[in-house]
Amino acid sequence: MKLQPFTVLLAITAANATKINPLHIKRQATASSSVSTATSATVAASSVSSSSGTSATSSSTTGISTGTTTAVGAPASATWGTSYPPLSQISSGMPSEVTQAVTTTYTAGASPTYYSGADPLPTPFVFNAADWPAQDKLPDTSSSEVQEWMEELDGWDIPDLSPTVDGTCVSDPANVANASARGWWTCGGYTRDTDITVCPGKPMTWGTSFDDGPAFYTTKLLHFLNEQNIKATFFDVGSRCIENPNVLIDEYMSGHEIAVHTWSHPHLTTLTTEQIVAELGWTRKAIKTILGVTPTTMRPPYGDIDDRVRAISLAMGMVPIIWTRTPSGVSFDTFDWEIPGGVVTSEASFSQFEGILGNASTLEDGFIVLEHDLYEQTVDMAIGYTLPAALNHNPPFTLEPIGQCNGIPYTNMYVESNLNTSFPIANGTSDGGIDTDGDGTGDAKSKNSTSSASTSSNGGSTQHTSLSIFAMPLLATLAALVVAL
Ligand SMILES: *[C@@H]1O[C@H](CO)[C@@H](O)[C@H](O)[C@H]1NC(C)=O
Ligand SMILES: *[C@@H]1O[C@H](CO)[C@@H](O)[C@H](O)[C@H]1NC(C)=O
Ligand SMILES: *[C@@H]1O[C@H](CO)[C@@H](O)[C@H](O)[C@H]1NC(C)=O
Ligand SMILES: *[C@@H]1O[C@H](CO)[C@@H](O)[C@H](O)[C@H]1NC(C)=O
Ligand SMILES: *[C@@H]1O[C@H](CO)[C@@H](O)[C@H](O)[C@H]1NC(C)=O
Repeated sequence: MKLQPFTVLLAITAANATKINPLHIKRQATASSSVSTATSATVAASSVSSSSGTSATSSSTTGISTGTTTAVGAPASATWGTSYPPLSQISSGMPSEVTQAVTTTYTAGASPTYYSGADPLPTPFVFNAADWPAQDKLPDTSSSEVQEWMEELDGWDIPDLSPTVDGTCVSDPANVANASARGWWTCGGYTRDTDITVCPGKPMTWGTSFDDGPAFYTTKLLHFLNEQNIKATFFDVGSRCIENPNVLIDEYMSGHEIAVHTWSHPHLTTLTTEQIVAELGWTRKAIKTILGVTPTTMRPPYGDIDDRVRAISLAMGMVPIIWTRTPSGVSFDTFDWEIPGGVVTSEASFSQFEGILGNASTLEDGFIVLEHDLYEQTVDMAIGYTLPAALNHNPPFTLEPIGQCNGIPYTNMYVESNLNTSFPIANGTSDGGIDTDGDGTGDAKSKNSTSSASTSSNGGSTQHTSLSIFAMPLLATLAALVVAL
């Protein structure tokens, strides 16, 4: 059956407006996790937890055949981590492959060699439940940590926008009507000049990224990326970082960029300002504790950002990165995250990706795509299909991490090595404020700007069509189906 992804997704969207967070669902511990206590309480009953990481559910790696019936083959030189099923077998019911060890084990004191000014890795992370908020839940905002981080907002003009209803468009007609004024990306694709959404002036360049890890199959992806000498940006979830610290270290030490993707993966526009600070702050702290570095970039889950979320993020020293929408409103979302729940087929997701490459080929800028390393299915889609399709394309696409494809050196990706006075905070405006709309004056995100958020931020908004409505509600079905696994 030939599926039209947008048609299918539209129908699903209409039927599923509820918000459920798929990250609440956990699976068996990964080989390299050193935080068994963090996962033991929530491991799914059907999973086999293994501290050695060598056992999994019903099948072993031998139960998964390598892709031989696919439109695109793995690059010829790939020898490890390239075992993946035929496209049609990447599905919600596929057997769980054994998780793989990290590509390299690093010891405390080791330093990344691919950029200068990097601090050595801290002493190995030891999970202590008392040190962290509950995983995958909104952190308590009364903690001393959150109250301290709130002080980072002092002197910043955080727009006084009420939280959205649930971060989706269907539930919130009032805020949809005001989406342009509040710069709400979710409903209409409104961006500001401080947002990173493309690789400027680099046609045929894919700013490659993966969201929601570090997770059980991230190591498989890392083996593939490292063998192909592909570097990517990982938008890491704090709750996953403390669970899989050695996978996070493997990402970072392998030369991939590390960015913040919140603690519990909520729709940030729905939260209070203190809750947003807590979500970003705890993830930043987890990454700092494990890697010794503090990211200067973040991605809002579901791309759910408005001027309030932007201002808070920038005040905390993190530049928002979303994914590309074309001028005609095509959102570069592979919907790979809906394969595990059976909401979208692997064929439909890959067809969607081929459409993305087709659209990307026409752009004057490079592009950014939403993909995930959270699930086995999404990793197999990446290593077996989407990444090879881009590499084998004629002409081929160039794959780079998002910071790099934006001209941001590794040193600027982390506070500790960042000597750039204009990144992440652009203080180049005539009134000393933060210019987000490119009109030369500080605006919604400016330090003590006197201009109102509504008037100044309107100028830089970019209207696209509302395909973004797909971005979220489908998770209800995904979560329900994954729970049933
Ligand atoms: C911003 O304004 C607040 C109160 O209006 C003031 O306390 C603070 O010092 C100001 N910050 C700067 C950087 O001017
Ligand atoms: C762009 O994406 C849309 C939606 O997926 C698709 O219908 C269209 O064919 C794509 N354009 C190209 C040139 O591939
Ligand atoms: C500082 O960062 C900005 C924004 O990314 C960039 O345009 C500029 O080239 C950087 N400057 C230096 C010296 O790295
Ligand atoms: C912004 O830049 C100006 C000029 O470089 C400088 O005088 C001012 O102190 C800066 N303001 C802030 C808040 O960093
Ligand atoms: C619409 O957005 C503007 C700018 O953010 C804000 O000032 C205004 O209060 C909003 N209006 C409504 C009705 O929410």
